[in-house]
Amino acid sequence: MANNKVNTIGVLTSGGDAPGMNAAIRAVVRRGLSKGCHMKGILKGYDGLLNEEIIDMEAKDVSDTIERGGTVLYTARCAEMRTEDGQKKAVEICRRHGIDGLVVIGGDGSFAGAQRLANLGVNVVGVPGSIDLDIACTDYTIGFDTAVNTAMEAIDKVRDTSTSHERCSIIEVMGRNAGYIALWCGIANGAEDILLPEKYDYDEEKIINNIIENRKRGKKHHIIINAEGIGHSTSMAKRIEAATGIGTRATILGHMQRGGSPTCKDRVYASIMGAYAVDLLVAGKTKRVVAYKNGEYVDFDINEALAMEKGIPEYQYEVARSLSANYAK
Ligand code: F6P
Repeated sequence: MANNKVNTIGVLTSGGDAPGMNAAIRAVVRRGLSKGCHMKGILKGYDGLLNEEIIDMEAKDVSDTIERGGTVLYTARCAEMRTEDGQKKAVEICRRHGIDGLVVIGGDGSFAGAQRLANLGVNVVGVPGSIDLDIACTDYTIGFDTAVNTAMEAIDKVRDTSTSHERCSIIEVMGRNAGYIALWCGIANGAEDILLPEKYDYDEEKIINNIIENRKRGKKHHIIINAEGIGHSTSMAKRIEAATGIGTRATILGHMQRGGSPTCKDRVYASIMGAYAVDLLVAGKTKRVVAYKNGEYVDFDINEALAMEKGIPEYQYEVARSLSANYAK
């Protein structure tokens, strides 16, 4: 199937949903139609592919979706696609439905599935969709902007009550292995401490001392942004309250960060990336991942993309810390 002219393009969303995925689906469908391709939507990610939940898609099917959160194609995390049997079955189903090009919108886990399909001969392009901003080949992932704004607004609200009660607040944001939401909120919300999976040294004593020192200097609240990857916010709050005598509460923002109408940035980047994915397939390219790098839309070989690593930018982290009350004395 690889490298032939593409007639029918399938699109699916996979892994955690992210605001802006609908804008990407819409762009894939309409760009594909404008290039003369038949378009098919695959429901519920790879799960739906393996169950042949495949529908034809016309331009009107993506009307009124660009402003909606979630994904109109639904999504899932699919264990079967990690098996060889599952992958072979997926290829067979693509063949049977005439799908000779596939756009996978999701994160690294979804791209790993796409990589396997590509190795078995399906023309595949990945589009980065994840609120975590944790895909190494790209500076932007669909959903991060909306999620980080949702989290920022929620943290502002927690801060109001924290100040009123002169409390310490630990606010846990999403990011299993990646601290980008925590880092950005740490800067945007002016947090006193930012705990990132990539950086945290588990020195709780230091945090407790910071809280006591800040209180002595008249600080009314102490905001700690904790990334999900570190977790344990509730038990941390209990230990901090016991050690400092200062009322401490934990708030876990959870899945609210994944929902909501996408920001302008998410809609625009997702639209361009979706269209770009179709353009690659129509140009006969496969095994690619669309990315936004150094101010430009580009694409990478999927194997290279998956081999890349991403850390927290040192300078951003250092600035975030230097602006907190603990260090800017
Ligand atoms: O990948 C996005 C994400 O929201 C992570 O931040 C989080 O760790 C994970 O998904 C949660 O996954 P689920 O919704 O399957 O529990």
